[in-house]
Amino acid sequence: MPAYTPTPEDRFTFGLWTVGWQARDPFGDATRAALDPVESVHRLAELGAYGVTFHDDDLLAVEPDRDRAVAAFRKALDETGMKVPMATTNLFTHPVFKDGAFTSNDRDIRRHAIRKVMRNLDLAASLGATTYVCWGGREGAESDAAKDVTAALERYKEALDLLCGYVLDKGYDIRFAIEPKPNEPRGDILLPTIGHALALIGELEHPEMVGLNPEVGHEQMAGLNFVHGIAQALWHGKLFHIDLNGQHGPRYDQDLIFGHGDLKSAFFLVDLLENGGYDGPRHFDYKPPRTEDAQDVWGSAAANMRTYLILKEKSRAFRADPEVREALLASRVDELAQPTLAPGETLADLADDDFDLDAAAARGYHFTRLNQLALEHLMGVRG
Ligand code: GCO
Ligand code: MN
Ligand code: MN
Repeated sequence: MPAYTPTPEDRFTFGLWTVGWQARDPFGDATRAALDPVESVHRLAELGAYGVTFHDDDLLAVEPDRDRAVAAFRKALDETGMKVPMATTNLFTHPVFKDGAFTSNDRDIRRHAIRKVMRNLDLAASLGATTYVCWGGREGAESDAAKDVTAALERYKEALDLLCGYVLDKGYDIRFAIEPKPNEPRGDILLPTIGHALALIGELEHPEMVGLNPEVGHEQMAGLNFVHGIAQALWHGKLFHIDLNGQHGPRYDQDLIFGHGDLKSAFFLVDLLENGGYDGPRHFDYKPPRTEDAQDVWGSAAANMRTYLILKEKSRAFRADPEVREALLASRVDELAQPTLAPGETLADLADDDFDLDAAAARGYHFTRLNQLALEHLMGVRG
């Protein structure tokens, strides 16, 4: 039985805001004390994580002086060997962002938001981050009368174009990753899904510098298939980063521990990430439940990594199972990889008077068997 013990080679990373969440929600006060980012770095390193990520403001959780906070954070990174592969900006907590940041109706606020990102980009670059996430938490509206969406998309593009220009001018090795979300905290958020964000990227001045940071729960909140979304992001070469967590279908953003929502989808997600060419960090963006105490927080962090490693092993066993291989062939899963026209063929070659429509229609795909085999691996009765 594998030990499922994470090591830095697994490249597990955590947002400082995840373990550091004090569990304030719209209905209740914090249930946990503020956590020193220095402690988070040490604890996560002890648990086998590879690195941490942060919003500019996360560093100020217990030390309001920015220079002192950054110095303490750097020291913790040096002491533990923890990396910072990604950073991001808090453009949603301060009341100034109540109508958004890059797309606020207030031009002064849009200018402030871009300055805030630039400042943290400098820090991110100095810490070695190569991905910069843009989550449009408050880029949205509650009323269609209040937001000119066409203009808002122009401003979104303007901000991203300016920020790409800044990174190029400075010579930073940084790419941006847009994080889609359909709603919450706004009634509707711009770029609500992976598909919307991909389409915007195609309109940017530097599309090659901008990709995606999809989050499990955000697509599932919209009733979408996250695994399909990730497959499409990979196909476009746009899966720059990922936020792993759990969600039970369309409802508020639960940010559960990875695997604690739709476990079957988590299995197929790990199977895709491990076999589909994603080589970025496995980043957890979850919230330790509000019921948990300061000690439980670290158990919850460990649970994310352990579940990922268990699912990775399940995926390996699934792919290695001779009966699964045979079932995949019987379901003709491999046949979809064959181009529909053979090399050298033209549309004229599609003419086929011998095609037996009824026989083709009658052929079954045997997908139930395949699905059941996957479930049985997941339930631990095979492999
Ligand atoms: C959410 C979001 C956020 C962002 C993070 C980065 O749960 O709605 O995922 O957690 O990922 O704030 O800006
Ligand atoms: Mn979320
Ligand atoms: Mn996220």
